[in-house]
Amino acid sequence: MKYLAYLIVTFFAFLSVAATTDFVPPQVWKNTKYDRTVQLIKSYVKEQVTVTIANTGSQPNQFYFFALPQDVIADLSIISVELAVGKELVPATIHPETNGNVGFVRVQLPVPISPKSSIKISVTYIYTNHLTPALPKIYFEDEHMVVFRSYKLPLAAYETTNYNFDVMGVQLAKTQEIASAEYDAQNLEADFRRDRIVYTGDGSVAPLTFMPVTLTFERNFPLPRVYNLNRDVWVSHSGESVSFEEYYELGNDASALNRGFSRIEWMQARMAQRHSFAITGLELATSPNARELYYTDLVGNVSTSAVPEDGNMYIKPRFPLFGGWHYNFTVGWSTDLAQYLRVAGKDTYVMKVPVLAGLRDCTYDNVRLSFYLPEGAVLTDVASAVPYSEKIVDLLELSYLDTKGHTKVTLVYENVVDELRSADVLLTYEYDFNARLRKPFTVAAYIFTALFSYFVLTKINLAIRPEKASSKAT
Ligand SMILES: *[C@@H]1O[C@H](CO)[C@@H](O)[C@H](O)[C@H]1NC(C)=O
Ligand SMILES: *[C@@H]1O[C@H](CO)[C@@H](O)[C@H](O)[C@H]1NC(C)=O
Repeated sequence: MKYLAYLIVTFFAFLSVAATTDFVPPQVWKNTKYDRTVQLIKSYVKEQVTVTIANTGSQPNQFYFFALPQDVIADLSIISVELAVGKELVPATIHPETNGNVGFVRVQLPVPISPKSSIKISVTYIYTNHLTPALPKIYFEDEHMVVFRSYKLPLAAYETTNYNFDVMGVQLAKTQEIASAEYDAQNLEADFRRDRIVYTGDGSVAPLTFMPVTLTFERNFPLPRVYNLNRDVWVSHSGESVSFEEYYELGNDASALNRGFSRIEWMQARMAQRHSFAITGLELATSPNARELYYTDLVGNVSTSAVPEDGNMYIKPRFPLFGGWHYNFTVGWSTDLAQYLRVAGKDTYVMKVPVLAGLRDCTYDNVRLSFYLPEGAVLTDVASAVPYSEKIVDLLELSYLDTKGHTKVTLVYENVVDELRSADVLLTYEYDFNARLRKPFTVAAYIFTALFSYFVLTKINLAIRPEKASSKAT
């Protein structure tokens, strides 16, 4: 449970970011190698910084301050810090003091590092709201350009030498920089490749140097955002089934359409065969062996275009969703309870469900994940591989057959991304029902699995090859 605790600490630390002071961390480290990789393949930003830190002080040091712009800290969806060797996760919290627009993540190394010694750490994080359309309105056949504002030299709390800044997923990028003699002296070499820019430098960069850079690049894909998702999970022991219902309030942060939408012009331009910044179809993950699928919107039932064998459902909104447009819909399905439930002891069950299924490549502002336990079940524990902001437990009387009431447990998550499809929630409850579910398992093994799935999550794929960038909403 150790890692989970760290994450929760991290989350609550976010809430306390307020004080603006000119905090300068004690200058007891030097970054002797700093490699930053930014991946702009999805509709949100993933970064990984691997830094070798050398203790330049005269005392052993255990605390390192990792600098990030305050606006990135405010939009962090997840952050994790690990030792580059051995991959041990280390606790990290958002430090309450800032320096102008720079904030800090305070990293606690597992052991103090002695003077003149070095250690290499990797910081991986995802943040949202940092890709914006270059133009507010365009024609649907236009190329869609997206802007990413960031910084080019390492932003660090300490002096830094030997650095690399690698931006991936930027097709036909144009860059704008703020020219200044101070920055030019850094001798930064830029290497523009097909969908990648690599900057390298070996000069010395002073602590808290901020060298802005704006990248504008072509991205003919939407920027999907779910304002609200209600994900309801109904557990039935007697039916040996679990039913999911998901209500989405979907929008698109991409450019808006320059004129009224004409389906005829859309078809004449053969847009169905091209990638577009409009959302025209959605691939939604459901559950293995999902059955009784449905898809409805305000107007009524919509037929699903494919029934999944791979657990994915393909749906087509009634109109292409351009920037600024909204589409609210509901999908649902059922599957076998045994896939999600294990017996943990006499009358004790553990339910393991991912925080999200749903859309690929999407930001979710608010997610309400609710479990409806069988009548008479008593909730004993809830654990989540990623921190939630609120937990609500209600006792409901759902039908005339109810005598004891149903427990409803809701976990609220804010600012999450589809990557959390590999993060699980574990729910333990007591329930007197002599169903003979196979595969008994222990709670301990489940908690291990949850941690493991968090580990998988932290190994965010920063590979060069875009991972199915083209299969998002097309
Ligand atoms: C659809 O979702 C949007 C965005 O959250 C919301 O403002 C709107 O009221 C919803 N529309 C309906 C009919 O529920
Ligand atoms: C939608 O389809 C479901 C199942 O096919 C059916 O039970 C329901 O009555 C339909 N609802 C509407 C509004 O057509």
